[in-house]
Amino acid sequence: MELDVLEKATTKDLKLKLREKVLRLKKERNAYIVAHNYQNYEVQEVADILGDSLALSKATVGTGYDVIVFCGVDFMAESAKILNPEKTVLLPVREADCPMALMVTPERLREKKAQYPDAAVVCYVNSSAEIKAESDIACTSANAVQIVKSLPNKQILFVPDKNLGHYVQRFCPEKEIILWQGFCTTHIRVTAGDVLKMKDKYPGSPFIAHPECPPDVIDLADHVASTSGFSPYIAKSKAETFIIGTEVGMIYKLKKDHPSKRFVMPTEQFVCQTMKMTTLGWVAHALEVLEHKIEIPEPIRVKAERTLRRMMDVSGDHPNAAIASY
Ligand code: 13P
Ligand code: SF4
Repeated sequence: MELDVLEKATTKDLKLKLREKVLRLKKERNAYIVAHNYQNYEVQEVADILGDSLALSKATVGTGYDVIVFCGVDFMAESAKILNPEKTVLLPVREADCPMALMVTPERLREKKAQYPDAAVVCYVNSSAEIKAESDIACTSANAVQIVKSLPNKQILFVPDKNLGHYVQRFCPEKEIILWQGFCTTHIRVTAGDVLKMKDKYPGSPFIAHPECPPDVIDLADHVASTSGFSPYIAKSKAETFIIGTEVGMIYKLKKDHPSKRFVMPTEQFVCQTMKMTTLGWVAHALEVLEHKIEIPEPIRVKAERTLRRMMDVSGDHPNAAIASY
């Protein structure tokens, strides 16, 4: 047998075995596997639920499972633990963090709060439990406009994503949004030039952007949505080709949802390295040895829970309430 054929056969065999192992351990542990839309396709395939940050956090609440395996990045698993303190919440790869969430520290946030005592602090869910504990209310890319509009304060201190904050400001001219200088290291890589080239190449094809993209890229979008908002827009559109302005993992779900449509990326740089750290092997390992357990000091967890629950009260409790787009 040729070497590459042999390698492919071995890899396929290994993946099948790992998949069987994950499914077996999932039953034995009474575990619920949740996966973000950016996960590797092999991980998406074994998940009980696939979704955006908010839908996944909400989906973990009130289930009869003992263990939650969060296939995503650390702040997502932390949100699941904040909302489900009695459950074992596992992040398969401890190093799977979100570079943007690391761009704000509690100390610096406290300094900024002292500078703007009248401002309400809105934290994007892409933030640590400590930042949530320091904030008044959380938001996601699906509900950020709704959350900011719901607040009585004119001044809003928005952390950490300056691009999402800038996007929200477009819809809330009555507010003064103080932007933190954080950004998503993945969405920052697409440029307006990349998008214009694709628009030239595929005339008439809608460009759908995630609000973490820079403002000049958002200006070119036909639709802006959280990762859960891409598929519903495509379902309603008559177009055949779509330019996808978010992480490449999204393509797998979109192809599954819309097999007859074509999806193109404006840049091959749209890869979130830490989202891609989780493999089937790590999911199997997590279930086997029950690692890595998320632990949050109780005083921080309680405050962070209040911040998340306030958001859920405003956006509605049902998971599908998260599937909003503007
Ligand atoms: P959503 O899935 O909530 O749109 O978030 C995107 C993201 O970057 C998560 O890290
Ligand atoms: Fe963080 Fe961006 Fe990766 Fe999402 S895509 S986890 S915001 S770095």
